Amino acid sequence: MAAIVARAANGGLRGRQETSRGSLVRRRRDYAVVVAVVTGAGAPPPQEGALERPAWSGETPVSRLVGALIAFKPLYALMKLASREVIIRTAEKANIPWREMTKKVLESDVYEVFERIRDPNLVYPDYYLSPFHAYDEGNLSWLAAAEAEAATLSIAKRAIPEATSIEEANQIVRGNWMNAIEEHHLKYSGHRQINDILDIGCSVGVSTRYLADRFPSAKAVGLDLSPYFLAVAAQKEEKMSRQHPIRWVHANGEETGLSPDLFDVVSLAYVCHECPARAIHGLVKEAFRLLRPGGTIALTDNSPKSKVLQELSPVLFTLMKSTEPFLDEYYMLDLEEALSQAGFVNVHSIFTDPRHRTVTATVPSTKKKFLSS
Ligand SMILES: C[S@@+](CC[C@H](N)C(=O)[O-])C[C@H]1O[C@@H](n2cnc3c(N)ncnc32)[C@H](O)[C@@H]1O
Repeated sequence: MAAIVARAANGGLRGRQETSRGSLVRRRRDYAVVVAVVTGAGAPPPQEGALERPAWSGETPVSRLVGALIAFKPLYALMKLASREVIIRTAEKANIPWREMTKKVLESDVYEVFERIRDPNLVYPDYYLSPFHAYDEGNLSWLAAAEAEAATLSIAKRAIPEATSIEEANQIVRGNWMNAIEEHHLKYSGHRQINDILDIGCSVGVSTRYLADRFPSAKAVGLDLSPYFLAVAAQKEEKMSRQHPIRWVHANGEETGLSPDLFDVVSLAYVCHECPARAIHGLVKEAFRLLRPGGTIALTDNSPKSKVLQELSPVLFTLMKSTEPFLDEYYMLDLEEALSQAGFVNVHSIFTDPRHRTVTATVPSTKKKFLSS
């Protein structure tokens, strides 16, 4: 069975430092707390690599070389195909029935749900209209939507290859992420209950359903730019019965059009590494506006410090970069600093599995003053 053990990189939980605006950069290296994951299969605890970020990201010669290879169109087309092949093969090896799951969605009545959910007036940001994940229309296509759940399930298996099943891997990865949210909220919200949760970049709703299951008394909203993904999410949810059915919103997470102070938790799971830096700043700023004072933001995503990611094979990282054009920007951005600049306090970053970190932070009670200054 999976169990979670808190391990201290720098002196246990005492290693967590309260951070306030301005002092963050000085302190950020001191507060790394590793949440080690233990499975029956004996998964090793997450480890930090020797570098600040993978050598294949940012402005390094390796990164420039990979960038030049990708920029060469005929080679890029081949890499895209190879990358897709690797993704599907890895998933099927982990017993995720990729092709079956895809077929089931494509042959369903999801197309009717799409008509109900789509905001035809939504203007998409430029970055969202480019090819992505080996799909020419990026996330704005039925194939991307139909394959998204299988792709999402494989994130956990890649993170915990020792797990005995895909369910166990997901239980650990998602469990650690939600523990990080809950612990942060308990500690810093001033005893606020979690009544309203927003899942920005909810994709086909996997993360939203985890949140809704974990916090059943809360009302959960899943928001995404892709009406195709949302249609798949909503269609699946129609068959569930819950105290509070999940609401799905087709909008840009940078400018949702929702009223301020609506949520106690805003989560962005695996969203930032798919966005350019300017969008990450926009998402964080909008989350600050939407959260109530005492509310918690949680960003879970690739950890630049992950030893596993730093040691990826050249073939794998080249393939990855060929289908995720904003990885460099993501790895170069100081996420903790971005949160701090947006007005968040109590910024903490922890490893929640060997590949991913969860960065959590709080909206201070002085939110109004911050926004008007
Ligand atoms: C990897 S998926 C997220 C997976 C999902 N959160 C989970 O954990 O299962 C990233 C999602 O971010 C969405 N996204 C990217 N930019 C966005 C934006 N500006 N506003 C809303 N959603 C966005 C994409 O459409 C995509 O569905």
